[in-house]
Amino acid sequence: MTQTAQSLTLEDISVDYGRGPVVANFSVHVEPGKILALLGQSGCGKSTILRVIAGLLTPSAGSVHFGATDMTLRPPWERNLGLMFQSHALFPHLTVLRNVEYGLRPKKMAKKDSERRALEMLELVHMTRYANVHPTELSGGQSQRVALARALAPEPRVLLLDEPFSSLDAGLRERMRAEVAAIVRQVGVTTVFVTHDQDEALSIADMIAVMSAGNIVELASPRDIYKRPRHAYTAAFVGGSNLIKGELCAANGAWRFKAGDTELAIREANLAAGPAMLAIKPEDVAVDPPPECQHRFRARLEEASFHGPNQRLVWLVESLDGKAIVSRTVNSQRDFRVGDTHEIGWKSSDAVVVEMDQ
Ligand SMILES: Nc1ncnc2c1ncn2[C@@H]1O[C@H](COP(=O)(O)OP(=O)(O)OP(=O)(O)O)[C@@H](O)[C@H]1O
Ligand SMILES: [Mg+2]
Repeated sequence: MTQTAQSLTLEDISVDYGRGPVVANFSVHVEPGKILALLGQSGCGKSTILRVIAGLLTPSAGSVHFGATDMTLRPPWERNLGLMFQSHALFPHLTVLRNVEYGLRPKKMAKKDSERRALEMLELVHMTRYANVHPTELSGGQSQRVALARALAPEPRVLLLDEPFSSLDAGLRERMRAEVAAIVRQVGVTTVFVTHDQDEALSIADMIAVMSAGNIVELASPRDIYKRPRHAYTAAFVGGSNLIKGELCAANGAWRFKAGDTELAIREANLAAGPAMLAIKPEDVAVDPPPECQHRFRARLEEASFHGPNQRLVWLVESLDGKAIVSRTVNSQRDFRVGDTHEIGWKSSDAVVVEMDQ
């Protein structure tokens, strides 16, 4: 399939449903053919942004561009979008094939062309065999594939997916997410994908916008969002980082992080000196750390919870401001007793200085 993907640009979008702003000065740019994930907690405004892109909601300020074309005031049917929402809403009285053809209605194609196109789309999502079946006879994952075929049939300029897998059980969700990501990449359509599942965002997206309270906290590649977050909110929300409060200081050209009586050498920092937090992913915390772990502490085990193959451990590190809590998950082979003291630590390169939440 050939398709000229277009970029998508939102500039200074604000939305007010009547009880104060829900989204304020929201800006983002998605390169042609790339997948942007909007990741955030319930109520942070993800679906609102999709509604604005779709033209289902007029923003109180700001603009929406597809490529160079201003779409802000265009009605939804002039936007040529593919939509796939949580409830995929196939028409029960139409066969799978007719459901996909329905997506082509705005194109006003000749009957035989729209049928050929619909069959092509069914082939793309591996559902050709089901062309003449009614949706009630399909499984959840099969319905999802048909909904995707219908959304992609008119060669949309932009594809919008709003938590499309949340109604599926865990195993199927993972398979569908990999499959949909592969199809979307094959087609090369610019995509905005809404989810509150960090795994989904990390595995599918080219860029992740971490959202909170109607705005973007941080926009970066999945790898940077996970490995090199800039904000404490991102570090905690994606990957559940341990966060230690302190102060970033610069001395003789080197960065140091002060927490309580402890001073730690830091590899790099993208912040100005001042109050900050140190973020360490639980999987980077070592018990009885090897020599390459430069940050090392005596720590008291406060909690040990058993989860079958793993156990989750939580320590109190007194030398880090008297109250730093550090956790990690280890396998269940070794017995840990609450109250025992251990040496724990991590490599300085795994400790990321992040901005405190406002
Ligand atoms: N039609 C509406 N009228 C009034 N307020 C609304 C309307 N739709 C959404 N809101 C409010 O706007 C905020 C953002 O809602 P939105 O649906 O965009 O959140 P979301 O991030 O998609 O959440 P979820 O993950 O639960 O779907 C919420 O506080 C919600 O209460
Ligand atoms: Mg939503």
